[in-house]
Amino acid sequence: MSGVDAGGVDPDLVDAIGADLRSAGFTTDGVAELLGADTNAALGRGVWWPVLRVTHAAPTDRQRLAVLVRLLLLGTEEARDLVEAAFPSTSLETLAANGVLEFTGDKVRAALDIRPHSDGARDFYVVSDQDAAVRRGPLRHDHVLGIGGASVSLARAVTRNPVRRALDLGTGCGIQALHLDAHCDEIVATDTNERALALAAMTARLGGMSWDLRQGSLFEPVAGERFDLIVSNPPFVVGSGARDYIYRDSGVAGDALCQSLIEQIGAHLSPGGTAHIMANWIVREGHDWRERVSGWLAGTGLHAWVVQRELADPVSYVSLWLADAGEDLDRQAQRGGEWLDWFTEQGIAGVGMGMISLRVPRDGELPEQILEEITGADEAVTGAEVDAFFARRAFLRDTSDDMLLAARLSTAPVFLEAQALPGPDGWQEVGAAVRRPGGPAAVIGVDEVMRALLAGCRGEVPLGALIQLLAAHHGVDADALAQAALPEVREAIGRGILYQAE
Ligand SMILES: C[S@@+](CC[C@H](N)C(=O)[O-])C[C@H]1O[C@@H](n2cnc3c(N)ncnc32)[C@H](O)[C@@H]1O
Repeated sequence: MSGVDAGGVDPDLVDAIGADLRSAGFTTDGVAELLGADTNAALGRGVWWPVLRVTHAAPTDRQRLAVLVRLLLLGTEEARDLVEAAFPSTSLETLAANGVLEFTGDKVRAALDIRPHSDGARDFYVVSDQDAAVRRGPLRHDHVLGIGGASVSLARAVTRNPVRRALDLGTGCGIQALHLDAHCDEIVATDTNERALALAAMTARLGGMSWDLRQGSLFEPVAGERFDLIVSNPPFVVGSGARDYIYRDSGVAGDALCQSLIEQIGAHLSPGGTAHIMANWIVREGHDWRERVSGWLAGTGLHAWVVQRELADPVSYVSLWLADAGEDLDRQAQRGGEWLDWFTEQGIAGVGMGMISLRVPRDGELPEQILEEITGADEAVTGAEVDAFFARRAFLRDTSDDMLLAARLSTAPVFLEAQALPGPDGWQEVGAAVRRPGGPAAVIGVDEVMRALLAGCRGEVPLGALIQLLAAHHGVDADALAQAALPEVREAIGRGILYQAE
């Protein structure tokens, strides 16, 4: 068990550890270079034997790096002299006394997970507890989660515009705060778990960053304060309210924590502010998921884009979280059974998982809240897409039909996808769509006229004039064609397929 307590690790020792890790070449590039592309990819997939093979065969001048990879990323037990050599600036006794390492007989193993992480521009270290794959046995109650799938999805979905104040609610190992550091002047990071704050402090210090770390639940630690950007990957797991693990169980039943977070968030956003929340929501038999999440949003007064990325059935959902905690099979069966019984009592048919992006409307503007199911692997919600989504909605609200007809529109880089069936006269087209590759839900069905219109939108001719040309070509009334085309043009703009040329 990690000996790091709420008091955290002595900052001077953290600096010494950082210096040793860097001088050994323990960086994302350094590890990738040592392992080679295939073995590094295997490490990313949790396949470790090739990593052991490469690190044990490392040349003498890469020994320190090889030992650090095994010790910190695989959780192996290593000979004392090797670990001593890997940390020349400090002693094993000091590292053990501070809960960074622990002695196991005549060997040493890591008590923490310290891994290099790149935000694309800079390299950092992220400090967390070791997950169930690295350390066998159940996790401790106050386990501090490392970088997981949800952390990465949230980091990708955050808008990266420079802002003054940002809040990372439920910071854990500090992964979101770390990404905020590049574009936010001031970062407040909160957590209920004191150990999480201690490890986040290490993450910050190792990266030469400084965050205002505060303990408390939801918005308690920031009462009365506002932020330009709020991000949160909260303990969203839907359960009976038991609190087995702080990192995932909120201690309140169902999806009430996500509901409270959404309902309170508006009071903490500055004018024009943005929030990104990972959330799970209950889907009851015979109900659309949108009803529930719309209810949370109704009183917020915020613009919203809610994307359900996945809908898990109860067995898949419970299995996912049971596997995460590293418990033995009997315990999993018992806990899983109780969990499923609770789902049945509550009439829960599934759990929706997704991303809630929010923005404060301009003065006098009515909030617009759009909820959609977008599940394609290549349709991930990114910060750039969220920004563009809100900008497109603002453009559509601000632009009357007359203004739109006078505007010069351009078509984004898109593909026309035709569906055809084989028939007696060859292929017969039965439908067509235009897709902006990589855009979430960036696809619209198109008929002949819309196809021609999209092909003609090159930012040169006003939309109204293009419609007149098309009407003349097809021998139809131009006004009637405009009335029919405008809703489709608006849909295409909303999906980022058409945009106003400069
Ligand atoms: C799923 S982890 C997310 C950690 C990290 N932010 C990330 O993106 O990977 C959720 C974090 O929220 C913290 N937490 C739990 N209950 C909380 C609450 N009521 N208010 C604030 N944070 C809470 C947990 O201790 C944990 O560190």
